[in-house]
Amino acid sequence: MSEVASSPSSPAPALDAFWMPFTANRQFKTNPRLLTAAQGMYYTDREGRQILDGTAGLWCVNAGHGRPEIAAAVQQQLLQLDYASSFQMGHPGAFQLADRLVKLLPGDLNHVFFTNSGSEAVDTALKIAIAYHALGGEPSRQRLVGRERAYHGVNLGGVAVGGIATNRRFFGDLTPGVDHLRHTHDLAHNAFSRGQPLWGAALADELEQVVEKRGADAIAAVIVEPVYGATGVLVPPVGYLQRLRQICDRHGILLIFDEVITGFGRLGTPFAAEYFDVMPDLVVAAKGLTNGNIPMGAVFVRQGIYDRFMAASDSGIEFFHGYTYSGHPVACAAGLATLDIYEAEGLFSRVQTLAAAWEAAAHSLKGTRHVIDVRNLGLLAGIELDPTDKPGARGFEVFLRCFEAGVFVRAAGDNIALSPPLIIQPAQIDQIFTAIATVLSQM
Ligand SMILES: Cc1ncc(COP(=O)(O)O)c(C=O)c1O
Repeated sequence: MSEVASSPSSPAPALDAFWMPFTANRQFKTNPRLLTAAQGMYYTDREGRQILDGTAGLWCVNAGHGRPEIAAAVQQQLLQLDYASSFQMGHPGAFQLADRLVKLLPGDLNHVFFTNSGSEAVDTALKIAIAYHALGGEPSRQRLVGRERAYHGVNLGGVAVGGIATNRRFFGDLTPGVDHLRHTHDLAHNAFSRGQPLWGAALADELEQVVEKRGADAIAAVIVEPVYGATGVLVPPVGYLQRLRQICDRHGILLIFDEVITGFGRLGTPFAAEYFDVMPDLVVAAKGLTNGNIPMGAVFVRQGIYDRFMAASDSGIEFFHGYTYSGHPVACAAGLATLDIYEAEGLFSRVQTLAAAWEAAAHSLKGTRHVIDVRNLGLLAGIELDPTDKPGARGFEVFLRCFEAGVFVRAAGDNIALSPPLIIQPAQIDQIFTAIATVLSQM
């Protein structure tokens, strides 16, 4: 552990200049929580306390913190080739990473476009979907369908298809032509479901109503998180995603899975598409792609989508889209080293062996004070708390108290979301849920 990491005496940084994202800045700056190091399953804070990471950072550090293999690959890449554009140029790492990644996707999802974040990947996917139809002679297919409570990042397209009201406020309608399907959560029908709820597949049929209202020839794509994450982990009802797929097929609508959270082993398979046995047309990924160590996002597309773009022009640029850092050499090096770890340590299948213990530990909270629902799948869990007249206040208090108790959880309104690194040990699973139970019983 470095000196800075463990030394409370290192000078406190001035906090004013940094406008923190998705943070109550004024509140934070009166009582800052500063992390200075991380190793394995633990963060270290400025006071030198160890905090068990129940959220893999922000759903991203799937292989655990401080992996020397990734650090070495990144350092080596910086010294070998620090930067190279992917516009009309290339470097081997981007092609190697692409080739390895597509092998993790089911079916013919065999081409990948690189971005630097999940938000960029979402907007890229939406643009690909719209352009795909235009190139196929259906330029009228410009509308998009998202869902209530969805989180698809913070760029304008993602906010438009997203369904979290606070994020949409001011900006949600800047990208017109979006409809939202109802979310699938209903306490009366599916509270305390273990794994996938049995009730709710028919909610997918709402897509038929959108088609009826707008006309199939106006709709480009439907985007869904296979398991909702940021809103508090909502697991799809049995058959729901299959039904969406069928309706999309019936009407020539593309189906996009936003797997920024569910990708890279979270459910025990490389991607949720495989877990649910539903084949999307595009898959959005980020986070676990580089173990959260270097920013990177990706959009996977099926062969027919790539082919249509390639066939649409003689030899010029096929898609006028990309980022300065698309396929950044350092991100690619981090990605390759991350995939090596996932493979060598069998981390995706490890989730399958932990999932039952995780589910049992999560559902042990049933009956705990304030708990009105528990949801789980793979190494994901959501714990819903009885709301108060101050939405989000109770969830935030649990987050703060757990932090004080040495466990890092995520508050999503009055839901506690959990998504630990896939290297978690059974005793650490117990530690997380015991801390939450203790904290809740004291509130
Ligand atoms: C499902 C989903 N999509 C998109 C994003 C946005 O990713 P980023 O924060 O990397 O832009 C997130 C982030 O949590 C996410 O959970």
